[in-house]
Amino acid sequence: MARIPDAFIDDLLARTDIVELVGARVPLKRQGKEYSARCPFHDERSPSFTVSPTKQFYHCFGCGAHGTAISFLMNYDRLEFLDAVEELARHAGMEVPRDTQQRNANPGSQGLFDAVEAASKFFQKQLVSSDKARAYLDGRGVSEAIRAQFAIGYAPDGFNALRDALGTDPRRMQLLERAGLFSKNDSGRVYDKFRDRVMFPIHDRRGRTIAFGGRVLGKDDGPKYLNSPETPLFHKGRELYGLWQVRQAHNKIERLVVVEGYMDVVALFQHGVDTAVATLGTATTPDHAELLFRNAPDVYFCFDGDRAGRGAAWKAVESVLPRMKDGRQAFFLFLPEGEDPDTIVRSEGAEGFNARLQAATPLSQFLFDTLGADVNLATLEGKGRLAERAKPLLAQIPDGAFGDLMRQRLTELTGVGARSAGADTHVPAQRARRPSGTPAPKRSLVRSAITLLLQHPPLALELLPPFRFAGLQQPGVPLLIDLLQLVDARPDITTGALIEHFEGREEHAALQKLAAEVVPGDVEMWRTTFMDAIDQLERFRLRQRIEVLQERVRDGGFSALTAEEKAELLQLQAATRGA
Ligand code: UTP
Ligand code: MN
Repeated sequence: MARIPDAFIDDLLARTDIVELVGARVPLKRQGKEYSARCPFHDERSPSFTVSPTKQFYHCFGCGAHGTAISFLMNYDRLEFLDAVEELARHAGMEVPRDTQQRNANPGSQGLFDAVEAASKFFQKQLVSSDKARAYLDGRGVSEAIRAQFAIGYAPDGFNALRDALGTDPRRMQLLERAGLFSKNDSGRVYDKFRDRVMFPIHDRRGRTIAFGGRVLGKDDGPKYLNSPETPLFHKGRELYGLWQVRQAHNKIERLVVVEGYMDVVALFQHGVDTAVATLGTATTPDHAELLFRNAPDVYFCFDGDRAGRGAAWKAVESVLPRMKDGRQAFFLFLPEGEDPDTIVRSEGAEGFNARLQAATPLSQFLFDTLGADVNLATLEGKGRLAERAKPLLAQIPDGAFGDLMRQRLTELTGVGARSAGADTHVPAQRARRPSGTPAPKRSLVRSAITLLLQHPPLALELLPPFRFAGLQQPGVPLLIDLLQLVDARPDITTGALIEHFEGREEHAALQKLAAEVVPGDVEMWRTTFMDAIDQLERFRLRQRIEVLQERVRDGGFSALTAEEKAELLQLQAATRGA
């Protein structure tokens, strides 16, 4: 996916006021320099959600939610990054640079959306006039209300019904073809792809129809379900059937239930489980996992209890692990042989189905049970095998309490620890590179400099590159330099816009946390502390350099240094004595 240029994001955020944006959705109260509200992202009585007009940043002290105007829209309106950018751009009267626009934003796709919508309307009308199709849905107990809510339709028999009704001009024909609604035979003749099938339209996150699934009425009439092919509007690995309806039904989704079939979603909704979505005849992809967790903190995956179901569940595990940030939970529910959510909810009702969800297996348990199914944990060999299998999986869990607990559990089971894949593993390497005996500046010094810079980005303008502390072997130093250079290039940048530059990078979360800190004092005090921290870093840098040179002298005498290095050493020693 093409990336939107950082400069555009900067401009966009500079022209957006986060107070206005949030205020249009959540009632804000002014409180000193900031605005506060009851947090829209968790339930609370007293307001712990704040929006800072100066930082252009929001933060909740209760649940830890924080971010910029872009992340607010992503989380509150549940938009994808590009959609959020587009939304803000429209509001600000700006145009998202052409080549980076999403597929659904290029001017050509509007015609495509219109064509698919027209087809959906056509199928719905056909359902009304087809006794056979209505009888089928009656037979499966699909209510009128649900037919309307899901815009269920019917594609008539014959080869040209849709084509005759809508493909009346060449442009329309071309659009319908691009939307995947036609097939072509060997002699090039174009005909309706969906024939004599109940049609389930698939909606995107804004409620636009983008594709269809069609079910045969009879038994042996080709594949049971036929789905639209991949088109410019539809990528099945990224869409979830029913998500639009779930979002329409809830302001805040507590949990999502992931099932396999269209009919499962429809039946669950009809019986009151209105948080069901389905993957579209594919395994759960990482994109699905992200989409699911962006919409709800708890996700329940339902599968058949057979071998295929367990295999599909394992695929879901693999997709979900890298998304298991703290606060997210995944569960697995296996249904008895021969049952699916549709049959269960019809026989047991929402109550019965929910009771099963209640008893679902947590991800942690499913993972260790599956990995350990064929090993004997009473033997060292078995423990070793379990540890070997688990390590690469656990390494994918993002840093946080959940990952720590999973590793702890592995240690309990096997006595073997799995090291985190995160920053910790790099530390020893860095230590090794640092010459022995060199003073290590306190980590908090860099951290403090970054925190202050995030409080008030113009502090960076007090320093002129090149930065003398730049060579310091210390985690966080490269990040500090990045930040200084960004502000140097864009002196008006706000905290929010600054952080947005790190979107998708490892440092993003840490920066958001630091930016949310409320540092006591005023700009003058911050400036003093900031300059002092930089000063100390520079002194550490000098001492580190002296140590390196001195160590070489210790090893090989003064002749080990070049003439310049000797001069440098003397100069450095003089400078630090003066300091
Ligand atoms: P199932 O075969 O389990 O069907 O396929 P189902 O959902 O229970 O369907 P009903 O109840 O008989 O109507 C589960 C899902 O797998 C995909 C569809 O998304 C379906 O809903 N599938 C299945 C296909 O895409 N093509 C097929 O031929 C079969
Ligand atoms: Mn079924």
